[in-house]
Amino acid sequence: MNKIGILTSGGDAPGMNAAIRAVTRKCIYHGLEVYGINNGYQGLIEGNIKKMELGSVGDIIHRGGTILFSARCEEFKTDAGQQKGIEQLEKFGIDALVVIGGDGSFHGAQKLTEKGFPCIGVPATIDNDIAGTNFTIGFDTALNTIIEAIDKIRDTATSHERTYVIEVMGRDAGDLALWSGLADGAESILIPEKQADFDDVIERLEKGMKRGKKHSIIVLAEGVGSGIEYGDKIKEAINLETRVTVLGHIQRGGSPTAADRVLASRLGAKAVDLLLEGKEGRMVGLYNNELIDFSIEEILAEKHVVNMDMYKLSQELSI
Ligand code: F6P
Repeated sequence: MNKIGILTSGGDAPGMNAAIRAVTRKCIYHGLEVYGINNGYQGLIEGNIKKMELGSVGDIIHRGGTILFSARCEEFKTDAGQQKGIEQLEKFGIDALVVIGGDGSFHGAQKLTEKGFPCIGVPATIDNDIAGTNFTIGFDTALNTIIEAIDKIRDTATSHERTYVIEVMGRDAGDLALWSGLADGAESILIPEKQADFDDVIERLEKGMKRGKKHSIIVLAEGVGSGIEYGDKIKEAINLETRVTVLGHIQRGGSPTAADRVLASRLGAKAVDLLLEGKEGRMVGLYNNELIDFSIEEILAEKHVVNMDMYKLSQELSI
């Protein structure tokens, strides 16, 4: 094992740069050469590959986005696309690949491993929807971005005594909505993992208004549906005008929090350790603050589980 490739793929996540830095520096520390692949699997197919030096990853630990760029690549889902990728890796003499991304990216890593090319996955997505790790890189930063936005919305919501529906990202997962809703004392939190009772949402709103609450916040995960439609539904039910904010891609940007930088540094370095131990087809993760690794195949077959105790707690605290 002499030459290691790195790529970032799928939706970018704050902390990806810290992970790229950790993989690069840890490889160089152990005397390995590192190659950065631009634009995820698309760049791999095209041979958009460059050698990384210590300085290539200087001054990036605090930056959002990814210096290697990212892409979602349909061609790589095909056998022919994967074969083209392997040919490029062989052309550059690369022996193994570290893939930083979410579940779509891990499907690619699994396919390469099945075709005989060793890969290690590092979980990075704001959605926190990967099994086998308590946290994915980028989740904490996105969560803090949401909190900052909701705090600001709360100011204007109070001044105008308004109800806000705030739609947050997360794809099919409710972690961003649940954690931000709990951290911001939302009246209701709507997540795909738990069918919300609309009557209960209305009851909470009405109860709050009766006891003189100046505003109400409903946090809705995008996986549940559209915030705008939900606002209309409330208006129809009780003639209450709402304002809707769809936070959108602001949740993916920004300087990573300390927690994400540390997580990315630990997971990135662990990925290199696994390669040095001769492991392949594994994903690194953090479980109860311990670094662990699982087979990517198993991880892809499992579903990330949302913490229902936290959901119950949010219901109890927002009475
Ligand atoms: O997976 C990260 C994520 O931001 C999801 O939360 C969201 O559903 C999706 O990516 C948006 O993807 P795109 O940036 O391709 O529109």
